Amino acid sequence: MLIKNIKELFGVREETVFLKGKEMASLPSIKNAFLRIEGDSIVDYGKMEDLSAQNGEEEIDAEGQFILPAWCDSHTHLVFDGSREEEFVDKIKGVSYEEIAKKGGGILNSAKRLQSASEDSLYEQAWKRLQEVKSLGTGAIEIKSGYGLTVEAELKMLRVIRRLRENSDVAIKATFLGAHAYPMEYKENHQGYLDLVCNEMMPKVAEEGLAEYVDMFCEAGFFGLEESQQVIDAAKKHGLKVKLHANQLQNSGGVQLGVKNGAVSVDHLECMGEEEINALKNSDTIPTLLPFAAFFLRFPFQPARRMIDAGLGVALATDYNPGSSPSGNIPLMIAMSCIQMKMTPEEAINAATINGAFAMGVENEMGSITKGKKANLIFTKPIPSLAYLPYAFGSNLIDKVMIKGRF
Ligand code: NIG
Ligand code: FE
Repeated sequence: MLIKNIKELFGVREETVFLKGKEMASLPSIKNAFLRIEGDSIVDYGKMEDLSAQNGEEEIDAEGQFILPAWCDSHTHLVFDGSREEEFVDKIKGVSYEEIAKKGGGILNSAKRLQSASEDSLYEQAWKRLQEVKSLGTGAIEIKSGYGLTVEAELKMLRVIRRLRENSDVAIKATFLGAHAYPMEYKENHQGYLDLVCNEMMPKVAEEGLAEYVDMFCEAGFFGLEESQQVIDAAKKHGLKVKLHANQLQNSGGVQLGVKNGAVSVDHLECMGEEEINALKNSDTIPTLLPFAAFFLRFPFQPARRMIDAGLGVALATDYNPGSSPSGNIPLMIAMSCIQMKMTPEEAINAATINGAFAMGVENEMGSITKGKKANLIFTKPIPSLAYLPYAFGSNLIDKVMIKGRF
């Protein structure tokens, strides 16, 4: 298939490297371009004037359109039952996130619902969300468990994620987040729940190949540093890679813990001091910013500018979940990152494509326009410039989305 007359083809990269600091500002492109696809993959691209036509080739005219690589959303909790808008209203009236959690709301509220929901119902609800984010340009997504909190319910969640992966052309990575919150009955017995997570849930998860990553809510009041370390040690024992929810509520040492243990990523990062930035500097751990969670909970936004200016590379992800980010809308997240965190459009797009791909281990297949990578593409409506995308926030400027060579 040949796509011709593309007004500008963005994210064209011969090499796949994680972008850091100043490198994040550049999004290489070709104006008046063609793109050739065979099966599900990109095989060629270039300037229209260098195009040599092939007989009998299917052609698509992208006159006036920009094409971008599809988004890679490296942090979501897309599988959940129902919604929590009553807590949303409580928060408007002044109840805090921590207070809601203490009263059995928050994560435990979602867990109670998920435990009694059927696997089919969870699958259908999640499938709808997946179709929605796909229509907004998401071509790869990481999904966590963590609303089960019992052996049975955690495995149920992970099986729903597996079923989504089997039936969708969107690339899906699964993460086991048993250490998301302490269930009520373990409130006074943290070690009991840690044992359940590490010695009962995790061996089953690993044995059934249900997850590639292990995550935890590393935060004072949830899983402290020593408790998180136990979960990390168990993950390592089972050959699972580590991600952390870190520094959302406090400078809790989560970032340093992640770096010390070679975590793939540390995510959230609302609370970042110089020490945290320095710890990340000489490491391969990817700082992943979740601006929707800051927005929705009215926390200060992540210090993206300070981090990038210090030479770090960042990824952006939606955190799609019922409690702190009931949206998986990446175009809106990119606009928010530009407006509230002063990222340039190029930086934000890189953070949600190639750097996001690295944060979920799909960088060799996705995240850029590169020969041999999957044909995961976003076609924009006619727009005057790339910056118009975040500028005109809230408008849907996506014309169509191609995943693995198919619209
Ligand atoms: O990433 N911070 C922990 N977990 C989720 C929120 C979970 C919830 O409130 O349901 C998050 O923001
Ligand atoms: Fe999260």
